[in-house]
Amino acid sequence: MKRHIPKRDPVFSDLAFAGRYAKKHLKMAQKFGEEYARKLTTRGFQKGRVLDSGCGFGETLIYLAKTFPEAEFAGVDLSEPLLELAISSAAKANVSGRVEFKKADVHNLPYPDDHFDVALNINMLHLVTDPLKMLDELERVLRDDGHLFIADIRRSWIGLVEPEFKSAFTVAEARAILDKSATRKGMLIAGFLWWRFETKNSG
Ligand SMILES: C[S@@+](CC[C@H](N)C(=O)[O-])C[C@H]1O[C@@H](n2cnc3c(N)ncnc32)[C@H](O)[C@@H]1O
Repeated sequence: MKRHIPKRDPVFSDLAFAGRYAKKHLKMAQKFGEEYARKLTTRGFQKGRVLDSGCGFGETLIYLAKTFPEAEFAGVDLSEPLLELAISSAAKANVSGRVEFKKADVHNLPYPDDHFDVALNINMLHLVTDPLKMLDELERVLRDDGHLFIADIRRSWIGLVEPEFKSAFTVAEARAILDKSATRKGMLIAGFLWWRFETKNSG
């Protein structure tokens, strides 16, 4: 199936659309939180700085903030309605002091080199205007011994029923983009609906 790139703005700026997105994907974001909390625990992570680039409504980061009380968290996105939701959910979860949500472009992250111990990037690669630039930025802000987790939907016949999947990359395309970028070495794991990339567990 040929890749079909939707004409809509990749930034979820429309209030109604953002609200629907947050409602539909709440469980998914929490599941990613659970998954990465498990993986980080296995790697011995307890404290340090965690980035979610393209954090949406913030639920994955909030889950991690509740799991790792000694760590600090930063979420960036360009969608104002989603960032507002993220800020109010962090306050309700009593983690605001350690979780900062900021309006910023994933192609140009407002952080110095080697700033983060963990970087997450979920459901973003197929959506952003310049995937290579985003990956290079993630690599720049992540410490050499940091943990990188990327996940995205994969294009398949599911696109016939769920149009979003038509705009995704195949696993081979995702691998080629990762290889072309500055991204460090890691494992690409193909699932039925998603692929995941993660750096080796050196813990
Ligand atoms: C499919 S959502 C994924 C959100 C979140 N990672 C999740 O898993 O729920 C894509 C997000 O990317 C944001 N986005 C798109 N382009 C962006 C950019 N250049 N910089 C920052 N955020 C961007 C959108 O506003 C939206 O919140």
